[in-house]
Amino acid sequence: MENKNQAPTIKPESVSTKTGAIGLDIGTSRIVVADGSNGHETRTELNAFVAVPSSEMAENMLRQRNMVYERNCKNLYVYGNDSDFFASFLDTDARRPMQFGLLNPREEMSQQIMQLIIKRMVPQARKNETLCFSVPGKGEGVSGNLVYHEAVLKSFLQSLGYNAKAINEGQAVVFSELQEENFTGIGISFGGGMCNVSVSLMSMPMISFSIPKGGDYIDQSVAEVLGESNTTKVRLHKEENLDLSRAPKDDLSRAIHIFYEDLLQNLIERLRVEFSRSGKLPKVDRPLPIVLAGGTARPVGFLQKFESVLRSGEEFPIRISDVRMAKKPLGTTAHGCYIAALSETR
Ligand SMILES: Nc1ncnc2c1ncn2[C@@H]1O[C@H](COP(=O)(O)OP(=O)(O)OP(=O)(O)O)[C@@H](O)[C@H]1O
Ligand SMILES: [Mg+2]
Repeated sequence: MENKNQAPTIKPESVSTKTGAIGLDIGTSRIVVADGSNGHETRTELNAFVAVPSSEMAENMLRQRNMVYERNCKNLYVYGNDSDFFASFLDTDARRPMQFGLLNPREEMSQQIMQLIIKRMVPQARKNETLCFSVPGKGEGVSGNLVYHEAVLKSFLQSLGYNAKAINEGQAVVFSELQEENFTGIGISFGGGMCNVSVSLMSMPMISFSIPKGGDYIDQSVAEVLGESNTTKVRLHKEENLDLSRAPKDDLSRAIHIFYEDLLQNLIERLRVEFSRSGKLPKVDRPLPIVLAGGTARPVGFLQKFESVLRSGEEFPIRISDVRMAKKPLGTTAHGCYIAALSETR
């Protein structure tokens, strides 16, 4: 497999230069593109779709509402951002091409739908532009599937004419947020399907891993313990009302707090284990910063909750200088991939 660890030796001020470099965050919940065309702005599509049996009437309705869809002989597929509206219109859950950070082997349409979404966001390359795309780190149940996931996406992006390179998602957080620290520190992306961590020294990933718990795990676990038949209600409550800094007042909030705590304990415990068994980690002469990004890191009080789990229990094996939130947690991975692509094009 090729090296995803290429050190971007660029200076921060060169980042806004228009070069044709592209960063693509291919996430379980959302696909995000950063191309430097508007500073740190990114564009996003939901990585989801809804299928309905093909009919003249349904197609007219989609056309009238200007919805993005594709037709094959049997079905109409509404995909990307329109899938959320269409799913609630039909009172159903949208289908998802990815699960736990990787192509979902149980979803027969996964590759076709992701190709449609990606083509809308990054149409055919003009002159073999460099495109860096995010992939998860190794983790429980990820290894063989990760090789397949990365190869399938890479070959599709190459077929669009890009010079495509995979970047570890945790490392993309480091590239985006730790330029002033010489790309030295710990980047963590708290996503929908999983969480990704990378410990980077001078832009070289020394430790990287994923855990298969993220926002979807929280939604599903909460729905299960409360006997909810679908996860949408849990997700909406979590996204709109959650405040991790206050004691929960109802069963739904209490259950969400419990699974947030469980996720953080899992991740920090794994980080402790990695540090204590990592023989290859050179002696770090200064404390490392930690940066938190991703949709699951967005609730009020998340940073404080992370810090309290980090400081609880035994002393952490390495010194930490500070823990901070990424500037734009939903666009961090795409922006970090963009910075990596930029370094390749110089
Ligand atoms: N304000 C919010 N509060 C809590 N959770 C949120 C909020 N906004 C989004 N989320 C959750 O964030 C998750 C999506 O995060 P993100 O877009 O970073 O994931 P992804 O990159 O698509 O997935 P992955 O990196 O795991 O493949 C979803 O579980 C969503 O419910
Ligand atoms: Mg992600």
